[in-house]
Amino acid sequence: MTIFAHRGASRNAPENSLAAFQTALDQGACAIELDVQMTRDQKLVVCHDLTLDRTTDRRGYIKDLSLEEVQEADCGSWFHDDFSGERIPLLQEVLRRVPPSVLVNVEVKNHPCHQGIIEEALLELVAREGRQESVLYSSFDHRVLQQIHRLDPSAKIGALFYANILEPWQYLEDQGIVPFSLHWAEEYVSQELIQGAHQRGLKVFAYTVNQGDRTRELASLGLDGIFSDLPREMAGSLDGG
Ligand code: G3P
Ligand code: CA
Repeated sequence: MTIFAHRGASRNAPENSLAAFQTALDQGACAIELDVQMTRDQKLVVCHDLTLDRTTDRRGYIKDLSLEEVQEADCGSWFHDDFSGERIPLLQEVLRRVPPSVLVNVEVKNHPCHQGIIEEALLELVAREGRQESVLYSSFDHRVLQQIHRLDPSAKIGALFYANILEPWQYLEDQGIVPFSLHWAEEYVSQELIQGAHQRGLKVFAYTVNQGDRTRELASLGLDGIFSDLPREMAGSLDGG
């Protein structure tokens, strides 16, 4: 089972920070999930929310701020004083920190104003960094997935869903999206879904799982992977810990 460190090792360090990614790597993570947004000057930064409000000491929409302004924010202190001075990283910095042997799931949390722009910038960056093989793109915004597939039919795509839908593979085909994986809310995962996906050559990854018992239960259903804020502990639970 693939265990994605969700926003890095986000129970041990501030989410989506270099500290969280480094902690996940130090813990032996083989896959990492992160969220990407675009600044006013079209730089790709790693942050979950559209605004700085929840996870930094500044306020405002990232789309309205320059990279310099975004990086003035402290994204560590809200989590713990030990991380004060931590800055929102560029996606490029994270890709350079994480070795190519580790799968990086880049979830696009775009503001609609960057529709059609963020996809191109993302593919260019990943190609420039030579990481096409080790990046999996996902988004709840399926227009983003369509566009990524149009620009690079070989790009690995994970289709994110909030809720249960019937025949997701048919829906995706109708939309011109060719997925590598389905990213499913863990409470809706079923054996039927997993079998249906596997019959079509698709993997199923569930978000967000932080309980060992639930991880083992999902593994027994044949699930391919989970997103977890506690990746080391969930890996331990599968090892019998
Ligand atoms: O990609 C899985 C999961 O990260 C989606 O939800 O809100 O944590 O980005 P969220
Ligand atoms: Ca995410």
